Amino acid sequence: MTNKNNVFRSPLFYVGDKYKLYPKISQYFPKKINRFIEPFTGGGSVFLNVSANEYLLNDIDSKVIEIHNFLEKQAENPDLFFKNVFEIIQEYKLSHSYIKDIVPQELRDKWKKTYYAKFNKEGFNKLKKDYNSGKTNTTLHLYILLIYGFNRMLRFNSKGEYNLPVGNVDFNKNTLTALNNYFYLIKKKKTTFHNLDFLDFFDSINFQKDDFIYLDPPYLITFSEYNKLWNQETEKRLLEFLVYLDVQNINFAISNVTHYKGKINEQFLKWSKNYYSLDIKSNYISYHDNSNKEFREVLITNYQPNKSVSKKTVRATETYT
Ligand SMILES: C[S@@+](CC[C@H](N)C(=O)[O-])C[C@H]1O[C@@H](n2cnc3c(N)ncnc32)[C@H](O)[C@@H]1O
Repeated sequence: MTNKNNVFRSPLFYVGDKYKLYPKISQYFPKKINRFIEPFTGGGSVFLNVSANEYLLNDIDSKVIEIHNFLEKQAENPDLFFKNVFEIIQEYKLSHSYIKDIVPQELRDKWKKTYYAKFNKEGFNKLKKDYNSGKTNTTLHLYILLIYGFNRMLRFNSKGEYNLPVGNVDFNKNTLTALNNYFYLIKKKKTTFHNLDFLDFFDSINFQKDDFIYLDPPYLITFSEYNKLWNQETEKRLLEFLVYLDVQNINFAISNVTHYKGKINEQFLKWSKNYYSLDIKSNYISYHDNSNKEFREVLITNYQPNKSVSKKTVRATETYT
């Protein structure tokens, strides 16, 4: 099952995932893709929806890749996977609205907006403690922490301990749908996951005709957990590598945010002038009056995305405010 735009969402529910913007972005992807190459895969909502003969996927976050590899294996036996999930949910007395809503009415009335967090807090904290102490240190336990954890994020402290509080969500019908879709899609796809810095990942590839690289790196001027890993220097190295790919006639498309709350990514804007630029999402009203709501997300391609697009910046007909 997909959303109304027929897009599958990754069961990692990744912060900043491209699932909502996928229809807008993918309309500019090449029609024929042999190998789909994604150095910043994150939750994977893009590769899940792209049609290609092969997928080379990468992320520097070893936990994210651990979960992808784990879920790919679970696709061989989803029934066993769901059985194991339910055993853990029961062991830690967590709510499980995908089967039945067990949160008592008094709690719902008292904590109208946060009753899942109230109900699951104790069990979640025990699960977190057991995971961090090594008692139950499996990828399935980590995935359940992700599903019940704050904003469905993954965050670890310097000792490598998972350190987010309980979230106000549980294993619900959307989780079930996203997992079933993932299992169905990944079984049909020829995928390889890598856990490398993007340059080492690129180094490992012999680029060929009909390769297509989609890049969704951290954005230099916005805020996110994974943006901590990113700076002007890493971005410069990435942009230089893309110039090299362009010279080799390899097609790429890269997402980025050029304007955000008064900040401008000048380095990226300057670099992008040599390519095709498509506006994906922006807030023009505040963009013009310079208020701090200013936001502009673009897709830059090194190939002509369609006949009507020239090398000048192209504004999408739809705008967001
Ligand atoms: C904007 S997110 C990608 C989100 C993805 N498009 C999705 O739909 O879920 C950027 C990703 O880049 C990864 N990343 C950050 N620095 C990296 C590096 N040097 N090499 C490879 N991946 C990196 C982060 O771990 C993060 O998952």
